[in-house]
Amino acid sequence: MDRIVVTGNGQLNGQIPIAGAKNACLTLMPATLLSEEPLTLTNAPRLSDIATMSALLRSLGTEITSMQGGKVLAMSSHGIDNHKADYEIVRKMRASILVLGPMLAREGHAVVSLPGGCAIGARPVDLHLRAMEALGAEMDLRDGYVHATAKGGLKGGIVDFPIVSVGATENALLAAVLAKGTSVIRNAAREPEIVDLVHCLRRMGAQIEGEGTSEITIQGVDRLGGATHPVVADRIELGTYMLAPAICGGEVELLGGRMDLVGAFCEKLDAAGITVRESENGITVSRHNGRTQAVDVTTEPFPGFPTDLQAQMMALLCTAEGTSVLEEKIFENRFMHAPELQRMGASIDVHGGTARVTGVEKLKGAPVMATDLRASVSLILAGLAAEGETIVNRVYHLDRGYEHVEDKLSAVGAKIERIHEA
Ligand code: UD1
Repeated sequence: MDRIVVTGNGQLNGQIPIAGAKNACLTLMPATLLSEEPLTLTNAPRLSDIATMSALLRSLGTEITSMQGGKVLAMSSHGIDNHKADYEIVRKMRASILVLGPMLAREGHAVVSLPGGCAIGARPVDLHLRAMEALGAEMDLRDGYVHATAKGGLKGGIVDFPIVSVGATENALLAAVLAKGTSVIRNAAREPEIVDLVHCLRRMGAQIEGEGTSEITIQGVDRLGGATHPVVADRIELGTYMLAPAICGGEVELLGGRMDLVGAFCEKLDAAGITVRESENGITVSRHNGRTQAVDVTTEPFPGFPTDLQAQMMALLCTAEGTSVLEEKIFENRFMHAPELQRMGASIDVHGGTARVTGVEKLKGAPVMATDLRASVSLILAGLAAEGETIVNRVYHLDRGYEHVEDKLSAVGAKIERIHEA
């Protein structure tokens, strides 16, 4: 298993390009199943999660050609010849459940493995299943699989979510576009990845209104065509790299970064004393003198502070002046990075969904364990500003969501290298 070694090396200066969003790409790819014509995604990120989704789609009969080193994905689903999303692929990635909606919509039936739990909490898929039922599907859970059928096709309906779910909103959208009649999604997620999915579906011929608000209305159409669509910038990768100069000092421009993607996060950086401004090619972040100030953070659905930036924000607050309170409201078990940061000298007290972080002057390098995707990058960020060497073990999590992380950080002056192990 590979490891990453990071050594504190002072300020960071330069530019980091931001890739297309993993979470957008993972919901755009299953949209290929809705049409017999090709769907081409540009600005795709080069990540192992994207390879997993490709493997899943290929297993269903989709042809995928990867071009420009994986930046362009040309997909064609004219011949779907398998309706079962197998456990062996689904267990690797929860987003696999996103093939359910489009398969049901186009084929009238689908069998999809239940994804099971994961390290950051139980993460059920009940809301996805309820959405399909609201569109007229019959669901049967057998042998760890969801057997879904819609005799005569899906019908428009009201999907009223009790809580906001990004994935369930996406699945409902992917199903409703080909359902007969009008569908309304209430309490819909408003994340930029949902807006991006709607833009792509519209390019394919779908009739949708209200994306980016909590009520989305879909007028089902008989068929969808092909399209070419650029994947929106990755706001989580953006926020992560914005924290690198915030933690280490210096000035870094994030190429392709957009303020509207990271509004709530920027407010917290501002409160912590970090300078963030729009610049010619994106967003520029700088910190030149003095310690960062403590700030309180509560994670919420978009447009609130994203749960996917909570671990990285904690890395910043470990060396801030004062005590910060971080409240995790989306997932029940998302502070696994805290004990690892404590190994580096951080002072953190976790009680249920609340973490109190009291800033220390400096962190010290240590061997640590990456427990999930965002936790692993938070340990790298912490290591960048720590005294001495930090060895991050189990970095396969990192490769699910960050492309060329060592190259991007080395380019701005970080001392970081990957050690390959058999
Ligand atoms: C997506 C993102 C993930 C991000 C999360 C929250 C992708 C591929 N992943 O995950 O990176 O952390 O949004 O912004 O886009 N829930 C249920 N039942 C369901 C579905 C969800 O109870 O059927 C709960 C979850 O356990 C969680 C909450 O709803 O507590 C929100 O989860 P959700 O928005 O669905 O997250 P994902 O779509 O899985």
